[in-house]
Amino acid sequence: MTMTLYGRDLITTQDWPVEYIERALELAVEFKEDRYNHPLRNCLDRRTFAMFFYNPSVRTRQSFEAAATELGGHAQFLEPKSMRLKSAKSAGETIEDAAKVMSRYFVGIGIRILETAIEEYGQGDELLREYAQHASIPIVSMAHDRFHPCQGLADVMGMRQHAGDLKGKKLLQVWGKGALVRSWSSVQESILINSRLGMDVTLCHPEGYDLDPEVIKWCEENAEASDSTFEIVHDLEEGYDGANFVYSRNWMTSDFYDLASKHGIEEAKKRETQKAMKYDDWITTKDWMDKADDAFFTHCGPVDRNSEVTDEVVDGPKSIVYDIAENRLHVQKAVMALTMARTEAEDYPPEEFGI
Ligand code: CP
Repeated sequence: MTMTLYGRDLITTQDWPVEYIERALELAVEFKEDRYNHPLRNCLDRRTFAMFFYNPSVRTRQSFEAAATELGGHAQFLEPKSMRLKSAKSAGETIEDAAKVMSRYFVGIGIRILETAIEEYGQGDELLREYAQHASIPIVSMAHDRFHPCQGLADVMGMRQHAGDLKGKKLLQVWGKGALVRSWSSVQESILINSRLGMDVTLCHPEGYDLDPEVIKWCEENAEASDSTFEIVHDLEEGYDGANFVYSRNWMTSDFYDLASKHGIEEAKKRETQKAMKYDDWITTKDWMDKADDAFFTHCGPVDRNSEVTDEVVDGPKSIVYDIAENRLHVQKAVMALTMARTEAEDYPPEEFGI
């Protein structure tokens, strides 16, 4: 199959055929092994990638910026306050016009828009898809309310680094108490991509912390198509039993957006935190890890230490969190090279590279 990744958006890995996901992961491994001398090291020579952040970041901004540099290009940081865009509350330029104008300057646009920048679940996803509809260059999610594709790719790359073939291995995606009030993006991306690629995924959370029903339906379909299993449990013993990977992460209830509209973001966060912190057992400890199958501990970051997971586990010998953070750089280089670059490197002809 000829890969036609050039020009493609990446809003969730669920939108990409498995072959494209595998191609990106394969190139990411090449970039990790040959970080500065890979034949594609200059494939974004003099090109600019726009990074449009509605919400803050450690990993995402820095890894995209480094990725653009390492491919010979540049990443430009943008915030809503640096533009004059139309919104529900203010007059300004439409997304259609902004997307068309930005397409004249850049080779791709990354967008991060999370819970505190939107009024209801799904608005962030709609915004990315509206940019994608009007831009003539790829739109890449840098985490939005529904998905976080680059995180999902980095997670898979990291788990493969440590355990090889993941088919049939059990991933426990477990809710953790926490004070940071997290969106659903990383968790939903994780259960989607891993059910798609053949892991046995167990989603474990207290009653009332349900995720997007459409995403759950896709996970069930993914598992059926990849001959794996997808289950939801509310019992921690059942969740940890036999797990090969444990990924604990806090996420908000679906009430968050209603609370925020009625009482404001800060009050909504306060109420979510008060509720979440009552679940004493929902923290990944060494005792819980001992119930799993010599499992690796993974997390997308930022880690809410001693709420989602104890220091002992996150700093322990089975933790792979920093490898996964590093992988953000490699997978994003791969995504940028595949979707945004037209390479003429003599030793890396485009037809062999698949672009
Ligand atoms: N995992 C992740 O996206 O981290 P940042 O919020 O720090 O970018």
